[in-house]
Amino acid sequence: MAVIADRCPGIQVTVVDLNAERIAAWNDTDLGRLPVYEPGLDQVVGRARGRNLHFSTEVDAAIAKADMVFLSVNTPTKTRGVGAGQASDLRWIEASARQVAAASQGHTIVVEKSTLPVRTAEAVKSILSAAQGNAGGSKSFSVLSNPEFLAEGSAIGDLEDPDRVLIGGEDPEAIEALAGVYGHWVPTERILRTNLWSSELSKLTANAFLAQRISSINAIASLCEATGADVREVARAIGSDSRIGAKFLQAGPGFGGSCFQKDILNLVYLCRHYGLEEAAVYWEQVVSLNTWQQQRIARLVVNSLFGTVTGKRLAVLGFAFKADTNDTREAPAIRICRDLIEEGAQLAIVDPKVEPSQIATDLGMEALDPNGRVGLGGDGGWSAVATPEEAARGADAVLILTEWEAYRHLDWQAIAAVMRQPAWLFDARAVADAEAARAAGLNVWRVGEG
Ligand code: UDX
Repeated sequence: MAVIADRCPGIQVTVVDLNAERIAAWNDTDLGRLPVYEPGLDQVVGRARGRNLHFSTEVDAAIAKADMVFLSVNTPTKTRGVGAGQASDLRWIEASARQVAAASQGHTIVVEKSTLPVRTAEAVKSILSAAQGNAGGSKSFSVLSNPEFLAEGSAIGDLEDPDRVLIGGEDPEAIEALAGVYGHWVPTERILRTNLWSSELSKLTANAFLAQRISSINAIASLCEATGADVREVARAIGSDSRIGAKFLQAGPGFGGSCFQKDILNLVYLCRHYGLEEAAVYWEQVVSLNTWQQQRIARLVVNSLFGTVTGKRLAVLGFAFKADTNDTREAPAIRICRDLIEEGAQLAIVDPKVEPSQIATDLGMEALDPNGRVGLGGDGGWSAVATPEEAARGADAVLILTEWEAYRHLDWQAIAAVMRQPAWLFDARAVADAEAARAAGLNVWRVGEG
């Protein structure tokens, strides 16, 4: 919405939320304190806020004035009831649709921006048309699907120069109205129009295909480690085939983030719903392989450290699900750290953007005293530290779990000097200078290197 406001000075954009604390944070005069860390976002908000970009808790008033309402609430995987663990929880979408139905005036275009299971628009439409029927002609609606393809960390660039914008719908006038908004900066040929269901399904499919590439390359990485091949050489060799392409072939600790797993599980649920068991099992494997990759890395750490990490200090570099974000949703670091703590390890975790309180929530346990040590008989635990060097002090191993730029330039001589020997580097992102680490006397494991 900030980018729309930035690119369309003639359009008034009001972002509303029930959460007053969040809205206050978006209105904070210190742009360094916005609730989402995303490179470049502070500048975009700085330019548009107060001009034609507003943040408010006055939800009904904003809906009443709006010509177009974007539903951008979250749709996490259900944790209970029918479809638990796979289907999306649509309670917030339904609640928002009901609020739009009640508060809107005149004709309103309702745009599904949240990632949704296919045919959700049907539910939104029926809630809105009930309201339309009761309003005696004073209100009417058109529903569009406009899924978002931005990736975190590169969101502003992705929005300013998208590969494509997708608009699904049935009402040509509404479609053109939304296309007109994007038309302020997106070339016409990149604005694709489809029916509602194709648009909804395209979002799930794009994420499933991207995630599938990561699971495919991670499967090959494990084989490279066993056979003496190098997955980066294999990725380069296959990626130069234009039919395959070079992107999304980076082996690592598995994919995280708020979308991939959720969307695939959604796809699996949909396939099952329509009786397509083989298709469901096929996509389910992408998630299973991803979980396996994370478990495999934790096991390999334990095995390399003489079969036990109980009472040992391990330095964990990076907790975010990828670099350039403070987001930890589904981060591979969560499962890997939990598995190691379960084995009795004491983790010293550092991440340039993730708050220790977030790590505590994700791991489901409070931090230990950073200077304390769990004994050989003790349970595992974790503490937050400020620098990689501090994390490495007294540690038997350094694990790199997020590809932060700084981890490419670590001083391995200095790090090795404060570690307990024999010491290891486990580089799950293959970003560290492995030569330098070896020269400093460390044993080095890199993902996908035999
Ligand atoms: C993704 C999609 O890219 C985006 O189009 C969609 O709108 C939302 O979901 P995002 O989750 O922000 O975006 O990040 P992305 O860059 O796709 O990375 C997802 C995960 O895959 C990260 O954990 C990343 O580290 C991992 N990844 C990515 C790899 O392990 N290897 C790769 O080659 C690429």
